[in-house]
Amino acid sequence: MCGIVAYLGRKAAQPILIEGLKRLEYRGYDSAGIALLEGGRLAVCKTKGRISELESILNPPNEAQTIGIGHTRWATHGAPNDVNAHPHVDYTGKIALVHNGIIENYATLKTWLSEQGVPFVSDTDTEVVANLIGYFYENGDKRSDKEPENRFEWAVQRALHEVYGTYGLAIMCTDYPEMLIGAKKGSPLILGVGQNEYVLASDASAIVQHTEQAMYLSDNEMVTVYPKSFHTKTTDNVLVSRELGEIEFSLDQIELDGFQHYMLKEICEQPARLEKCFSGRVDVRGGRVVLGGLATYSRQLTQTKRIILTGCGTAWHAALVGEFLVEQLARINAETEYASEFRYRNPVIEEGTVVIAISQSGETADTLAAIEMAKERGATVLGVVNVVGSSIARNTDAGVYLRVGPEIGVASTKAFTAQVGVVTMLAIELARRRHLGSDQASAMLKELLLIPEKIRHILSQSDEIKKVAEANVDRENWLFLGRGVNYPVALEGALKLKEISYIHAEGLPAAEMKHGPIALITKGMPVVFIATQCSQYEKVLGNVEEVRARGGKTIIVATEGDEEIKKHADHLITVPQTIDHLQPMLTVVPLQLMAYHAAVLRGHDVDKPRNLAKSVTVE
Ligand code: G6P
Repeated sequence: MCGIVAYLGRKAAQPILIEGLKRLEYRGYDSAGIALLEGGRLAVCKTKGRISELESILNPPNEAQTIGIGHTRWATHGAPNDVNAHPHVDYTGKIALVHNGIIENYATLKTWLSEQGVPFVSDTDTEVVANLIGYFYENGDKRSDKEPENRFEWAVQRALHEVYGTYGLAIMCTDYPEMLIGAKKGSPLILGVGQNEYVLASDASAIVQHTEQAMYLSDNEMVTVYPKSFHTKTTDNVLVSRELGEIEFSLDQIELDGFQHYMLKEICEQPARLEKCFSGRVDVRGGRVVLGGLATYSRQLTQTKRIILTGCGTAWHAALVGEFLVEQLARINAETEYASEFRYRNPVIEEGTVVIAISQSGETADTLAAIEMAKERGATVLGVVNVVGSSIARNTDAGVYLRVGPEIGVASTKAFTAQVGVVTMLAIELARRRHLGSDQASAMLKELLLIPEKIRHILSQSDEIKKVAEANVDRENWLFLGRGVNYPVALEGALKLKEISYIHAEGLPAAEMKHGPIALITKGMPVVFIATQCSQYEKVLGNVEEVRARGGKTIIVATEGDEEIKKHADHLITVPQTIDHLQPMLTVVPLQLMAYHAAVLRGHDVDKPRNLAKSVTVE
């Protein structure tokens, strides 16, 4: 979703902003812009389209412009066009800002400002914030005779008191040419602190090239940055002291490293990333899993009568796998909720209920809101999150990190397998503590540690999977069917295909096909089955035959060495044998590769699919 980068230091700001915006491209955007400040004058350049289009209309960088703000916009209020693109400058021409989030009361504020004679040029909610700051800056504090110590900072605070909604903001003022202000509520904002230079950004990937030292702002906080210092305050003007932390990843982790796309790189990284995710946590000999982050809650988790898993998109699919495993293995009542529904549902939460929020970015607005709601009702909320220090990591009672490094491709891949890896470890450990023999736990964990090597084997079949994609890529409707723990994988396979290849795909529990979707099957329609050898294998074979009888083309993900299945498959892809409960980490990989190849064959921008955002930080 929208990205912010701002710079204050000794170097020319423009190239740093552009480079930072390129690092944020993966979040998804439709327009981009920058504003520079020099000698009390603002230079704004913004356009609909890609950063490359912005670059083509920029003047050569000027060494004197060492302060600036930049933005990638993903339209919410107002069409993606040049005028609605950020930065926005207020009606006095003194304030320029970029904004992530949504100002919910923008219409009321706009009406009020218009009544005061303030003109507007865009359709955005953001311009309201710019004009509100400008209005207070120009008119001062009518309730006091005293001039505020820092009028710019005061005007920002004053304006933010009128605003409802979410924001990450970077703001400049022509009268304060050596000052940058950032403010945060509900949208991430990080200050990178270098040697007399500062990068304020919505995402650490725009900072890490300059410094690894960073400060994560909390909600209702603002930071005021000067050339050689900065201070943090609440928006109520109370000073806050914050430690600097280290950004947990390095620049090479966010480079393509010879791959054509981040998505392919991230698919291929899965074995190594899962090894890291399991490392030090799995004790095969003792039949135990040690998830250090959850230690304080281990008794509550073991004794709880109900676990609710929540998330959005791919994370929700991982939650669905978690539901199955927690119920099957640990025998605890488990259910999965879309965070966007859960937050508004006024659910019944009994004492002792544990909510597990799953999120790659740790910034998804709906998941954050679901967490707050569950906490208010007395649930213990745990996070399964990738981004260290993210809002979800900080707003949950405890949690487990995925350890997969930055995920740049919009279509989530390595985060999914690690999310499944974490919920699998958790379910096995809960089962052991409740009833499972340690020998059985030990056998499962031994098998778990073999999963990365088995994924390597699947990855080596990428060319064959590409041929399957090639043979079917011209079909506009696909079905993905699976049962049991492979049903969420069917959903995930369909999601991957639609996200990046724009092919219509539906994932279903295989048996549900008869209750409607079977009517869609026509000659040659690709139907992907996950038909690995598991407890429901025979049942799935029955479903395969129902599709074949109607002329559908069967693409089957099966277990290696299964001779019988060959007779049922138009295309066969195999995965190594493993126990039922661990299959999702294997069966999803060919589906990721198939979606990837299909998208490339259709000529799409795999890492930046249309309309999608990597991290959905607005509702
Ligand atoms: C967006 C992304 C998905 C992701 C979902 C949840 O829709 O495009 O890939 O699964 O958000 O994101 P999270 O960061 O919470 O896992």
